[in-house]
Amino acid sequence: MGTITALFLAFFSVAIPLSCGHNTQQVCLRTSYGDDGQCNFSLVLPPSSCGSEQEKDTKQLQEVTQGLTEQVEELQLQKQGLSIKVDQLDDELTKLKREGRQTAVDPCAEGHRLPGVLSCYQLLKLGCSESGLYVVDPDGPGYGEKPMEVECTFDSAGNLPVLPRTCSDLVQEGETKSRTYTIDPDGPYFSVPAFQVYCNMTAEDGAGVTIFGHDSETRTHVHGFEHPGSYKRTVTYEASVDQIRALIDASESCKQFIKYECWGSLIRDTNKDVSYAWWVTWDCREKNYWGGASPGSKECECMVTGTCGSPDHPCNCNINDDVWREDSGFLTHKDDLPVKQLRFGDTGEENGYHTLGKLMCFG
Ligand SMILES: *[C@@H]1O[C@H](CO)[C@@H](O)[C@H](O)[C@H]1NC(C)=O
Ligand SMILES: *[C@@H]1O[C@H](CO)[C@@H](O)[C@H](O)[C@H]1NC(C)=O
Repeated sequence: MGTITALFLAFFSVAIPLSCGHNTQQVCLRTSYGDDGQCNFSLVLPPSSCGSEQEKDTKQLQEVTQGLTEQVEELQLQKQGLSIKVDQLDDELTKLKREGRQTAVDPCAEGHRLPGVLSCYQLLKLGCSESGLYVVDPDGPGYGEKPMEVECTFDSAGNLPVLPRTCSDLVQEGETKSRTYTIDPDGPYFSVPAFQVYCNMTAEDGAGVTIFGHDSETRTHVHGFEHPGSYKRTVTYEASVDQIRALIDASESCKQFIKYECWGSLIRDTNKDVSYAWWVTWDCREKNYWGGASPGSKECECMVTGTCGSPDHPCNCNINDDVWREDSGFLTHKDDLPVKQLRFGDTGEENGYHTLGKLMCFG
């Protein structure tokens, strides 16, 4: 029996097909073919197991399973962490609520700072009706400008009176005296609180000109700055950017005078298409059109009036000869005003003087 088994296995192993599949297979032993060529003894084998490949599949499957298990564990950890954080936040909120109830903040108390109050209008909504100094934060807590003390005026009925929006409004109301007035360019219901400005009631044929002065009005020498724009003068205005922009939005026209006097110092190298001088808008955009020229033109007023010292250059200061020249005019494109910074260059050996006027708006 032992010999037969051994023989059987020997032939068996030879006869097994090498490909692997999924169905049972019938295998005829080599010794079992009758003289007629018919098989007189065959074996039915189970589906082939494809040994090594199956091992590979199993291993891959195990790896995938392991990976997924690890991911699930990690997600569970994250979830735990998050719920701990949520719990902490809930605790803090409860604590804040408790403390808030204990202090019983009165938002109408004069000079009391209540974070998040944007305007006198909001104070009115909170039930304040007594005129006086309040602290408001027009652009909200945590942004740009700090909370500031403003005068909120409530009328006898406890409403916000509607103030003139501009000096031109004051002219409409019959005011003719040039002096400081209180205006509220965006009205009582928006965030910029009323503030004081100087009104020149004679300029612009008595249109009522709102004036904003700044710290860079003096004619100033520029020397020793060779690279384009390496000289910087940042302009600080008497009023905040929010106040000025609200006034510009409420006005029909605005203008600001700009002048550069140059001795061999370029505003712009026309041939190389390089600007040495430019100015920066209130919202940080660099502009190289000069006063009196149109936005985007890279030109000066002399080009518009046909008075440039050379037909080849659209600015007198582009001529670059050792003669004192100047380019000046009014910037009038409201979107670009007020001027926030002046930049000059090409004054390593050469000289320049800049002058920037007050911002004036009317209409
Ligand atoms: C199958 O046929 C061969 C050749 O004719 C013979 O020697 C063998 O004994 C047969 N086997 C069976 C199981 O009938
Ligand atoms: C008002 O403007 C006019 C014209 O620009 C000027 O001459 C005058 O000095 C200004 N008045 C004041 C008080 O600033």
